[in-house]
Amino acid sequence: MSNELLLLLATLSIVFYIWQRRVFAFWKRHGVNYIRPVPLLGCTREFLTARVPFFEQIRKFHEAPGFENAPFVGVFMAYRPALVIRDLDLVKTVMIKKFQYFNNRVLQTDPHNDALGFNNLFFARSPEWRELRTKISPAFTTGKIKQMYPLMVKIGKNLEDSAERLGSGSNVQVKDLCARFTTDLIATIAFGLEANALQNAKSEFFYHNKAIFAVTLGRAIDFAIIFMLPALATLARVKLFSKETTKFIRTSINYVLTERERTGQKRNDLVDILLAFKREAAANPEKSQKALDLDYLVAQAAIFQTAGYETSSSTMTLALYELARREDLQERLRQEISDFFGDEDHVSYERIQEMPYLSQVVNETLRKYPIVGYVERECSQPAEGERFTLEPFHNMELPHGTSIYMSTLAIHRDPKYWPEPKEFDPERFNPANRDKLNMDAYMPFGVGPRNCIGMRLGLLQSKLGLVHLLRNHRVHTCDQTVKEIEWAATSPVLASKNEIVLRLEKV
Ligand code: HEM
Repeated sequence: MSNELLLLLATLSIVFYIWQRRVFAFWKRHGVNYIRPVPLLGCTREFLTARVPFFEQIRKFHEAPGFENAPFVGVFMAYRPALVIRDLDLVKTVMIKKFQYFNNRVLQTDPHNDALGFNNLFFARSPEWRELRTKISPAFTTGKIKQMYPLMVKIGKNLEDSAERLGSGSNVQVKDLCARFTTDLIATIAFGLEANALQNAKSEFFYHNKAIFAVTLGRAIDFAIIFMLPALATLARVKLFSKETTKFIRTSINYVLTERERTGQKRNDLVDILLAFKREAAANPEKSQKALDLDYLVAQAAIFQTAGYETSSSTMTLALYELARREDLQERLRQEISDFFGDEDHVSYERIQEMPYLSQVVNETLRKYPIVGYVERECSQPAEGERFTLEPFHNMELPHGTSIYMSTLAIHRDPKYWPEPKEFDPERFNPANRDKLNMDAYMPFGVGPRNCIGMRLGLLQSKLGLVHLLRNHRVHTCDQTVKEIEWAATSPVLASKNEIVLRLEKV
């Protein structure tokens, strides 16, 4: 190596060292207690070396020794300072009371090259987000969901048939079954499409849904940038969906939009709302023209398919896993199902909402396994006017762009709020125990104006799936059933590293 090169390397190393020292002094300078970072990786060594998933890294920050009574913890996501909020009042302040400073999520994809990722409701940033949310919300009202309920029941019955086909005594990969159910369900109610994932082992829709969450090394790197280092999103040209998935989503949604426009058919679903966007943009050329771009419409459809498929199928899977381990609870639920079905072949929309034990079971599943694992917001400080501070805990003004994380997983498993947190105990949510509940410590769907838009639908489809599956079938543990759930290290949401296998038995 030449002397010049050596000199250059030495200079770069010194510059890097000085820069990093300065960056890592951030929390100390502001008098905030923080977790000591290591060079290059900051506090996120375990995540960046693929030892733990992102949500588990956030949980570890929340549970870091020495911070048991702290309202927040300073951390470094690689080189970026971020704050993990532990105090439940401060969580409410950020998520609800001072929401005007926290409209945006931290995560981002490439604004220039990822039209489907950057523009969808989950990733959208204010002011576009607010407009999108207002316009899309009507697709999720109780009235709309009720209208769609008969379609949902049809898929519920298909799920029963699938269980029947699998046969009594078979060992079943439960996640696969539940994911096929939610794929079919979302495709029908959002787009009026038949995905046929339950009937057809090779359903294209199912294949692509799975591909979104199947993480290869390349995708894991993309996700690490999307979650943690959004400033690098453009440089690294990261995309939320792979090329192949993008092509599939574009083609199928384009087909649906064109068909609806051609036939003039109305279903009061997401597609109708998207077409209304387009008409409005065409009628108001002086306003934003984003909605004239097909990808802008496709982006919204894509996120519903993505957000609605994995979350609800994991909820169902984990509920079944817990119920297989506690057959007494399963029997109690089956009894309720049988009482509510009566002589009918389905439970009506109104009646399914009234099933008390089913609600308790689903609520407790999401307590123990809040599928997304954490919530996050980015702080936006105004150029003028009052700025956000950490009062009453600290007088520090958070710099514009600071990332804030809250670990729902840690809060849902904190014995301070949930005694015996490892126990699966639906009685926690028995209305008779209401005064013992601290609902501020329960946030499986996030909190405040930017919470989950699909909450009602997510709950309903998880309940419907459980009802149809457990009506005529029992699930048991078998020798292939894992004793404990270990997280899949590269999954963006809570998911078991090993298949969850249960034995199905016809009642
Ligand atoms: C059991 C099922 C579900 C769970 C546990 C869940 C959980 C969550 C969570 C934690 C968030 C972030 C909230 C926050 O930051 O405060 C979220 C956002 C979101 N979810 Fe869900 N979700 C579920 C089902 C669904 C369904 C069925 C859909 C749509 C069909 C959906 C669509 C979305 C969208 C679009 C957002 C972003 C909302 C926005 O930024 O305005 N989710 N979800």
